[in-house]
Amino acid sequence: MSHKLHEHRKSYQKGMLTKDQAAADPVAQFGLWFEQVTQASGIEEVNAMTLSTVDQQGYPRGRVVLLKHFDVRGFQFFTNYASQKGLAIAANPQVSLSFFWPNLERQVHIKGKAEKLSQEESQAYFAVRPKGSQIGAMASPQSQVVESRAFLEQTLSRLEQQYQSDPVPKPDNWGGYLVKPIEFEFWQGRENRLHDRLRYTAVNDKWTIERLAP
Ligand SMILES: Cc1cc2nc3c(=O)[nH]c(=O)nc-3n(C[C@H](O)[C@H](O)[C@H](O)COP(=O)(O)O)c2cc1C
Repeated sequence: MSHKLHEHRKSYQKGMLTKDQAAADPVAQFGLWFEQVTQASGIEEVNAMTLSTVDQQGYPRGRVVLLKHFDVRGFQFFTNYASQKGLAIAANPQVSLSFFWPNLERQVHIKGKAEKLSQEESQAYFAVRPKGSQIGAMASPQSQVVESRAFLEQTLSRLEQQYQSDPVPKPDNWGGYLVKPIEFEFWQGRENRLHDRLRYTAVNDKWTIERLAP
């Protein structure tokens, strides 16, 4: 079976991004785009982003995680520290975050270093998650081989019983990462493939903005 996708193409004309328009601070620019994409609707999980890591053999791997907080300190997501991504970050904290927002024809890349949030910060977020998610985090040895789905379901129902009337403690190996950015790229689709790309790079604690060819 072969699938020819030559006719899958579209013209991008939903916006533009110039140096004059762009906020001096990339986190402010990200916040503005995030709000606009949210308002424009058409995307269910605006905060879904591809986290790319490089493992100890040098292989890259991207997977989707949910952005849970961002500010001038950086960008936060939560996961299992013993997962594939957790092990990759422990060996090499240099990561990238990528967003594709087709409703406004935008893409954002963030390059930076990931560091673990404090146990207190992870605990604070764990405490506000729905109980089902808390128990799910405890039941799943994320990225490990398991013998069957039944094993996971039995673990889940055992834990549901165990914590029926008690709060669920945060597993030690579950928590957040903060990605501290050193570079951003904002991509806005334009006509005739002359897309706008602005790159922010941190130089001596200041952000410089450059235009990249599409
Ligand atoms: C929309 C979406 C959101 C996800 N959010 C998270 C998340 O916030 N944290 C997480 O650990 N995994 C999340 N996942 C699952 C990951 O993509 C991945 O399968 C899992 O974390 C294991 O990745 P790893 O084996 O590379 O460590 C999400 C998947 C999707 C499709």
